[in-house]
Amino acid sequence: MKKNLLVTGAAGGIGSEIASYASKQGYRVGLIDLDNEKLKDAESRIENSVSLPTDITDEASVDEALELFGEIPDALVNCAGIVRFGGLLDQEVKDFEDVINVNLLGCFIVSCATARLMKKKKSGNIINISSISGGKHPAIHSGAYAATKAGVAMLSEQMSLEWGKEGIRVNTVSPGFIDSGMSADHYVDPVERKKREAMVPIQRIGTAEDIAKVVMFLLSEDSSYVHGENILVDGGVMNSVLANIGRD
Ligand SMILES: NC(=O)c1ccc[n+]([C@@H]2O[C@H](COP(=O)([O-])OP(=O)(O)OC[C@H]3O[C@@H](n4cnc5c(N)ncnc54)[C@H](O)[C@@H]3O)[C@@H](O)[C@H]2O)c1
Repeated sequence: MKKNLLVTGAAGGIGSEIASYASKQGYRVGLIDLDNEKLKDAESRIENSVSLPTDITDEASVDEALELFGEIPDALVNCAGIVRFGGLLDQEVKDFEDVINVNLLGCFIVSCATARLMKKKKSGNIINISSISGGKHPAIHSGAYAATKAGVAMLSEQMSLEWGKEGIRVNTVSPGFIDSGMSADHYVDPVERKKREAMVPIQRIGTAEDIAKVVMFLLSEDSSYVHGENILVDGGVMNSVLANIGRD
C-alpha cells in the first residue's frame, strides 16, 4: 500500500532532499513551507508531491494544510527551522522569539495536529530534526538556536513517551556540519571549509543526502523498534572535543 508523508521546511535544503528521497521510495509527499516560490519549484521537481503553503507557527494555517493534504498522514518530518545570528547581548527579543516560534512552537503545533489524526488509525511515525547545537555544544553568536534545538530533542522524547501507546513512533535526527540550506554559505570559502572538515573525525562535511538516508531508515520498518532515540548524523564531530589533545 502507498504511504504518505508530510515534510515541513520542504522548500529548504535538507527538507527538499528528504521529500525527494521519500517520493522516490513511493511516498505521496505533502510539502509544507512558508516560501511559496521555492515550494512551487520543489513541487515541480518532486514526483507525487503537493505543495502546502503554510506558516507552521499558525495553528489555523497548519489545520488548513492538513485539510488540503486530504489524507491522514502516515508520517511527518519536522524539518522547518531558522537561525538569527548574533551574540546574546545583541539579540532583539523579537529575534529570539521568532526562532523559538518556528523551531520549537512550530514543531509542537504541526506534531499535535498530525498526531491527533494519526491517533485515529493507531499508527504514525514522526521524525524531528534537531541539531548537534541542541546537544552539549552550542555555537557562539547563534541566539536562540541551540536552546530551541535542545527543546526540540526533549519535546521529541516527550512525544515518544506520550504517543507510543497510540502506535506513533517518534525519533530525532541531529545533523552536524551540513553543506546545505541555512549553512551552505559557510562552505563557499575553501579556507573555512577546510577548517571545518579538519574538525570532523571522518574529515568531510555532511550533505542533505546524508540526513535524508537516515530519515528514510527511521521511516522504514527496519527501524520499527527504534523509538524516543536521537540519532547524531555528524561524522563524529560531537565526540571530537578531545581530538587535538596530544598523547605523544
Ligand atoms: N544545514 C545545516 O547545517 C543544519 C545543521 C543542523 C540542523 N539543521 C536543521 O535542519 C533543518 C533544515 O535546515 P536547512 O539547512 O535545510 O535550512 P533551510 O533554510 O534551507 O530550510 C528551512 C526551511 O524552513 C522554512 N520555514 C521557515 N519558517 C517557516 C515557517 N514559519 N513555516 C513553514 N516553513 C518555514 C524556510 O522557508 C525554509 O525553506 C532545520 O531545522 C535546521 O535547524 C540544519
